[in-house]
Amino acid sequence: MKLTLLVGTMSDTAWQVAQAMEMAAADHVAEIEVRRLDASDSPELFQAGPDHAYIVCTSTFGSGDLPDNAQPLYHALDAQPRYLGGVRYGVVALGDSGFGETFARGGRLFDERLADLGAVRVGELLVIDACSADDAEEAASAWIESWLEALQKLPADV
Ligand SMILES: Cc1cc2nc3c(=O)[nH]c(=O)nc-3n(C[C@H](O)[C@H](O)[C@H](O)COP(=O)(O)O)c2cc1C
Repeated sequence: MKLTLLVGTMSDTAWQVAQAMEMAAADHVAEIEVRRLDASDSPELFQAGPDHAYIVCTSTFGSGDLPDNAQPLYHALDAQPRYLGGVRYGVVALGDSGFGETFARGGRLFDERLADLGAVRVGELLVIDACSADDAEEAASAWIESWLEALQKLPADV
């Protein structure tokens, strides 16, 4: 199984969180790619079936927007919609609860769009609050272990 971590970030917190997840998952997954999203990404990158899984790990910027590097893929999922049935994904949404209603909206936007296109979310979102005293990398490392367990329990035809 190949796990791809798709990272949306402005100041690299999400990148560091993704790298912590990569280390935590290394013993459980045959192949892991951690990838900073960019303008070359298109919906074609998502592959369905049990041999692939994706985690979108993104922060929130502006007024509840995605970081600049995550916007091209997000908008391409709208402009070039493609049925994503059988694509397995999880979301790590970073934000700051001080922003109120837009808290962690970047990750939630991706979650909604992927689900609308038929992709299968595994587990619950992990929401990381920059205001919290909790260690983000530790939280993400613990989360991915249980996320991988949930992924393994999915029937092959989901
Ligand atoms: C200019 C600016 C705008 C932000 N807007 C939001 C927001 O609307 N909602 C939110 O939850 N967090 C917001 N944040 C907080 C970031 O999402 C948070 O600090 C995150 O950990 C940054 O991760 P990154 O370094 O990977 O980009 C904002 C931060 C900055 C600097």
